[in-house]
Amino acid sequence: MIASDSKQGDSVKHRQIKSYVVRSSKIADKYKDALEKYGSKYLISDTNLEGIFDEPPFSKNSVSENSAPKRREIILEIGSGQGATLISAAKEKPDTYFLGTDVYLQGLAHTIYTAQKNNLQNIRLYQGDVNDILKAAPEKFFSEIWCFFPDPWHKRKHTKRRLIQEDFLDLASKKLACKKLSGSFRVATDNEDYKNQLLKLGFLQAPRFAFRPITTFEAKALKANRKVFDLTYNFKNPT
Ligand SMILES: C[S@@+](CC[C@H](N)C(=O)[O-])C[C@H]1O[C@@H](n2cnc3c(N)ncnc32)[C@H](O)[C@@H]1O
Repeated sequence: MIASDSKQGDSVKHRQIKSYVVRSSKIADKYKDALEKYGSKYLISDTNLEGIFDEPPFSKNSVSENSAPKRREIILEIGSGQGATLISAAKEKPDTYFLGTDVYLQGLAHTIYTAQKNNLQNIRLYQGDVNDILKAAPEKFFSEIWCFFPDPWHKRKHTKRRLIQEDFLDLASKKLACKKLSGSFRVATDNEDYKNQLLKLGFLQAPRFAFRPITTFEAKALKANRKVFDLTYNFKNPT
């Protein structure tokens, strides 16, 4: 995921490979309106990424209600797309905070529209590369990380653009408050080669994750008779 420039030695900045293509599809008026009206409520700004983790709703004391101050569980969803999973999980788990990341503005606008319609207060969104969020987040911050249908990069010459690789797992594992051996990093894919790559990295196949609705992306895969695999990573050094 992160390539270093060996000619210049280890001290130079690492160059991040893009695991996505920025799509510029037209945003329907109702989603554009939602973006304009509620963007500031749901979208976090990238000007002070480290700072956002010290502020409400992510800071420790900001979500206490009747009991002693404590931070709620925070789940990171990578590539939240149109927000189907995020919205459905946020409704099911009102006491958990969800941070969705995607580069895809149309999808984020769609998510904001639906979140507002459902009056959801436990969602925040980031438009950009999840690597930026993970680097900025404090250690052991997220209770889970989800990545459903990461871009598959089918062609052999493009597989190096796949998001979930060893360096990415190293980074993700530092940011997980993982006390259990598995279940903290959940992935689903309809690409058998990606599934095999994940197994080699230490993922295990798992039953379909209960909080995962059928997204438009998955529906297309099923219509094309592609098998869908759920996997969870087995972190070896839980603390
Ligand atoms: C195939 S789509 C799946 C979307 C959604 N999870 C679903 O199931 O419908 C993959 C999404 O991941 C996003 N993505 C890819 N790499 C990313 C990255 N490094 N950071 C944030 N989002 C990324 C893409 O923009 C795209 O919307």
